[in-house]
Amino acid sequence: MTSYQENHDLLKICKLAPVIPVLVVDETSKAVPLAKALITGGLRVLEVTLRTDNALAVIKEMVNSNAEGIIGAGTLLSEKDVYAAKKAGAKFGVSPGATEQILRACAEVSLPLLPGAATPSEVMSLLSKGYSVQKFFPAESNGGVKALKSILGPIPGVSFCPTGGVTPTNAIDYLSLTNVPCVGGSWVAPENKIKAADWRAITERARSTQAFRKPSAG
Ligand code: 3PG
Repeated sequence: MTSYQENHDLLKICKLAPVIPVLVVDETSKAVPLAKALITGGLRVLEVTLRTDNALAVIKEMVNSNAEGIIGAGTLLSEKDVYAAKKAGAKFGVSPGATEQILRACAEVSLPLLPGAATPSEVMSLLSKGYSVQKFFPAESNGGVKALKSILGPIPGVSFCPTGGVTPTNAIDYLSLTNVPCVGGSWVAPENKIKAADWRAITERARSTQAFRKPSAG
């Protein structure tokens, strides 16, 4: 499979739910109840960032115990991260930007990648390599909804998952754009609620995102 097809397949994943929770988890004991809380609330595509010592173990736990969940690895910064994410069982990868090394490693191990882009040149460069689904990052500090609207005119062939500064208040504005199938954000399951094992609050937050669901979503 080529990177193009894998990235294209990512669009189906992005359409499964309006929000991809961006998770920072260090305690492996939290992995299973956290995934369960989010899936119960209707969010089954989850991004576990590789920002903690135990992130890979957390991914493994989630993959092995939540059949419904589609668990991705975020904050991929190197080839080593890509190989480790794949080995842990991640179904997709997310990177804040895009390097040749990461693109190559993801294609090599068939890990669908959501690569980050912040400018029209970066968007075009990724598109020229076949990446028609991209993460717009950091979304709010790069012009937010207005910037994505402006990109849609000249570059209509790219779908974006904006992440970085997306909140329950502005998510609906992003999702009203035709080039935004989903958004990413940490607000659904913030670190303090994970640390406190407040699964009820996390499920409630996940559930409340269903109001953002796009009419076309499957
Ligand atoms: C990240 O990678 O940290 C994401 O962009 C999450 O950003 P947020 O905390 O602003 O949702």
